[in-house]
Amino acid sequence: MNDLVSMKQLSESEILALLDRAQNFETYGARELPKKYTVSNLFFEPSTRTKTSFEVAERKLGLDVVPFESGLSSTIKGETLYDTVKTLESIGVDALVIRHPDVGYYNQLIGKTNISIINGGDGSGQHPTQSLLDLYTIREEFGSFEGLNIVIAGDIAHSRVARSNADALTRLGANVTFLCPTEWCGEFNAVHEWDENLLNSDVIMLLRVQHERHNEKSIFTKESYHNQYGLTLERAKRMKENAIILHPAPFNRGVEIDENLIECSKSRIFKQMENGVYVRMAVLELILNGRN
Ligand code: NCD
Repeated sequence: MNDLVSMKQLSESEILALLDRAQNFETYGARELPKKYTVSNLFFEPSTRTKTSFEVAERKLGLDVVPFESGLSSTIKGETLYDTVKTLESIGVDALVIRHPDVGYYNQLIGKTNISIINGGDGSGQHPTQSLLDLYTIREEFGSFEGLNIVIAGDIAHSRVARSNADALTRLGANVTFLCPTEWCGEFNAVHEWDENLLNSDVIMLLRVQHERHNEKSIFTKESYHNQYGLTLERAKRMKENAIILHPAPFNRGVEIDENLIECSKSRIFKQMENGVYVRMAVLELILNGRN
């Protein structure tokens, strides 16, 4: 595999093999790759977790990491993404992690350059390594996916996290229910109200309201959204004893999640961030070792 741009590329057994490899990194620590590859992280949208966790994963694998700041690069002078990538390829970069606002930006690159592309998020399209870290966190908790009831709640239409997870979780045997306002369902069949059944799920995954992808001003106030669709303290009290709360972050305290739940005993939000480093090491290793 030369690139990882979508969860749809991975078979169930390939997903599980990546999770096993990540588990190995968590248990035994990182080992440097046999060859010193050069990589760079091209982020054309804001990022804290994904960018830094890729960088940590890259350093742990002994890779050369070439700094790239999109705001100081020649893209500001009008250089296209394709020309930027061809430039980095000529300079000797082996793989790029790219986050870009255009859905499917990678279609103009794959097959036209020899550089490996790992998608760090394409608009509201896909975010495969976020999905892998969510899957890793769920499997770490429950041992498998078969028969788990999972709610993904929030701004589904604009969420590359929902889109990446929906397909992967279903293929792995979980029952996924989407909960969102009627305006934000996108292509998903969703329910629009919390009920006992949903609160009785094994995993409740909350999503941020992605104002930057909305054309119109929000129809909700923070409070009205929280009361209708958020995980309130009262709803959390009705969750199953061993159920967990996930959120890809950044979270809006008091909007999709009550601020007292962010570090509660059911929350795995910061563990998800830790797990991101292990799964990104597994992805980088798979792609880079496959290059020769
Ligand atoms: C998500 C993203 O950028 O898609 N965050 C992340 O990568 N951890 C979700 C979000 O921005 O809401």
